Amino acid sequence: MGTQTNTKSLFRTKTIEDTIRDTTASRHRLKRELSALDLTVYGIGVIIGTGIFVLTGTAAKQYAGPAVALSFAAAGVVCALAALCYAEFASTVPVAGSAYTFSYAALGEFPAWLIGWDLILELALGAAVVAVGWSGYIQSLLADVGIHFPTSLGGGTDAHWGVNLPAALLVLAMTTLLVVGVKLSARFTSVIVAIKVTVVLLVIGAGLFFVKASNYKPFIPPKTDQPSMAKSGAAQPLIQHLGFAPGAFGVMGIFTAAAVVFFAFIGFDVVATAAEEVKKPQRDLPRGILASLAVCTVLYVSVTLVVTGMQKYTDLSEKAPLADAFQSVGAHWLSGFISAGAVAGLTSVTLLLLMAQSRVFFAMSRDGLLPRSFSRVHPRFGTPYRATILLGLVVAVFAAVIPLKALAELVNIGTLAAFVVVSLGVVILRRTRPDLPRAFRTPGVPYVPAAAILASLWLMLNLPTETWIRFGLWMLVGLVVYFGYSRGHAVRALRAQGTDSGTAPATDTASASAEREAREPGTAE
Ligand code: ALA
Repeated sequence: MGTQTNTKSLFRTKTIEDTIRDTTASRHRLKRELSALDLTVYGIGVIIGTGIFVLTGTAAKQYAGPAVALSFAAAGVVCALAALCYAEFASTVPVAGSAYTFSYAALGEFPAWLIGWDLILELALGAAVVAVGWSGYIQSLLADVGIHFPTSLGGGTDAHWGVNLPAALLVLAMTTLLVVGVKLSARFTSVIVAIKVTVVLLVIGAGLFFVKASNYKPFIPPKTDQPSMAKSGAAQPLIQHLGFAPGAFGVMGIFTAAAVVFFAFIGFDVVATAAEEVKKPQRDLPRGILASLAVCTVLYVSVTLVVTGMQKYTDLSEKAPLADAFQSVGAHWLSGFISAGAVAGLTSVTLLLLMAQSRVFFAMSRDGLLPRSFSRVHPRFGTPYRATILLGLVVAVFAAVIPLKALAELVNIGTLAAFVVVSLGVVILRRTRPDLPRAFRTPGVPYVPAAAILASLWLMLNLPTETWIRFGLWMLVGLVVYFGYSRGHAVRALRAQGTDSGTAPATDTASASAEREAREPGTAE
């Protein structure tokens, strides 16, 4: 009996109504000021980054050749399937926290905790990875004008470890912007997004003139035994251990590359984390998510086709492939311009990943799964400043000291795991709460969510075994934190809100009184 109750409590859900009602408590409420267009800009701001600017080179050179364009298309299809599920969830549960909030409403507390923990991995580590990428570009730009950053402070080299000071400083600067307010951050973002999209369009438009058909031959290079894949069992994609032949090049190489360049699409899901700050979330959120994903997929496939047409895939740079492709054809000024655009673009990605991270942290803390004090919004700026500052400091340290190349794959596996849960959640919520108004309905339920789950799992299987092990360890730490802290605190938080086990909320709960007494000046309606 006792065990049964305990198990049941792991899957207690927070009702959708309570989830939405919580966001109206003004002490814990964010300002609503974003439109569908803002969201699309926000989406593009966070999506286009290290993936296209950096990973294109690695993926083409090591795994797929010119067929990396197909890898981008494949990763885009996986994301589109997941996006259809995200859009339904986001339009049904339009509050901060993305997949975490959705799973709390649909699947229960424990799956929600797992997914929240997983999102910390995706967003915090993603921000650190992008900040380090930014640091590389800014150092290269400085080198162009004769300023050489000391290696020991610029992230070191393969042979010598060094602290990455520029990356840490970028994270701290972005954290300050986020604390000061969404409005400022959104404006800042729009300008950077405009520069970034201009640069990407320039790569496509100008690059077309340098494309040579011979560079596309062969379009799908024949499969080879790639040394880096053969060297150790743990470095090989998990599918190899399941009897599939993974690979460098050949058709399977396209999927190996897709699992890597998937990073380039991370961010459309992040749009959903801003739900609480959207003026008309039911209508605008699905539009923002799908529009930003569509624009980026078209741009990515075009850019990769152009770049692999400009330069033989075997010669592509793994650090700055877009800029270097222009160097290789003698268009030096364009190359510098592209590097500058990459710096601006990576700045916005770092900012937006940090913002999304703080919103997930905020939502988890509001539910008592993390200390409640982190969900207090700033009385003047209306931002979750405590969560933002804490996370900013942690990410700055990550960016400064951790060699992130291998860890970047962790970001992908974490995100794909979140896709699986969200897609599952759509199907479950359709059954458990068919009555809920859904501004956007995923077409073809349960087939589209099932396809999203299978496609995400397929990409996950194409990631190295060691990535799976690291991911398992991270989730294990999550379990310790959940059973050691969060579970007990969530019980108290839910009782205080009168929502334990989905029972109807009491009218005069602690939370309701808190709402009444918390009408502070400076918090928006
Ligand atoms: N999609 C983002 C990037 O490529 C995270 O940097």
